[in-house]
Amino acid sequence: MTFSDSAYAAFAAQGRGVRSPEEVSALMKLTPLGPCIGVSVTDIEPRQLGDSDTAAALGEALETHGVLVFPELHCDDASQVAFGKALGEPDVFPIPTGDHAEIFLVTLDPAKNPAASYLQGTFFWHIDGATDDVPNMATMLNAVGVADNGGGTEFCSTYASWDALSADDKAKYKDLRVVHSMEASQRLVYSDPTEAQVADWQARPSKEQPLAWTHESGRTSLVLGATTDHIVGMNRDEGRQLIDHLEAWATDERFVYHHDWTVGDLVMWDNRGTMHRALPYDADSPRLMHRVTLAGDEAFA
Ligand SMILES: [Fe+2]
Repeated sequence: MTFSDSAYAAFAAQGRGVRSPEEVSALMKLTPLGPCIGVSVTDIEPRQLGDSDTAAALGEALETHGVLVFPELHCDDASQVAFGKALGEPDVFPIPTGDHAEIFLVTLDPAKNPAASYLQGTFFWHIDGATDDVPNMATMLNAVGVADNGGGTEFCSTYASWDALSADDKAKYKDLRVVHSMEASQRLVYSDPTEAQVADWQARPSKEQPLAWTHESGRTSLVLGATTDHIVGMNRDEGRQLIDHLEAWATDERFVYHHDWTVGDLVMWDNRGTMHRALPYDADSPRLMHRVTLAGDEAFA
């Protein structure tokens, strides 16, 4: 059974409707980008993304493949937001940066994004919302500007890396709990923080999460990333060694899709079954992403 087959089997076990390849091909063309993560979506127009049938088929493809790549789609903000609303509930930002309060600008330019310094943390593998009860369901980036050098984005399937573990390892890890914190992720960026920085990080609540998250679908994914602090009930050094070992396992190239951006690309990832990271780029680079983030639909369990 291939990785995609196992995902479809999970849909079927739940009695959820999965469109046949013929039904999907009437709406769009799907081309897998690797054995376990990523699918290219073509033969589709931006205005179709908000259509309920199309969005539902894309939602199924997202859960199956982890990452949807729409090469050079050149999606406008309205179509991007409509797609988000057709699939879930987009986060709304109190200070809109354009015509749509659902669009967040991802740039290292502090003039365009006052929270640019926090984006330094996105250069490390992470899950969006790992310190929350319910992580974000999905996130999409629309490339308005791209870096001249670097600035790619990498994604790894945390379903595939769990599935590939031996039965013995699964038995050892399945009940472990891990504390995630903002402090852990920021210490990767700032090795010598000020007292004020540490106080700010520690003011944000940490959260205990399962290492192995068994979803309502029956599939299991690893919950790791930059926010991992320590394993509950384990010697701190021993716990860090295990976290580092599993992080290296989960981000091995066989589980990874690497995306080099072209202006107009739209990429969406299923945050429930993937980790992602940005690759470094210059702070004065023209790289600018319009991001829509969908609220979570399933708590860590
Ligand atoms: Fe992120």
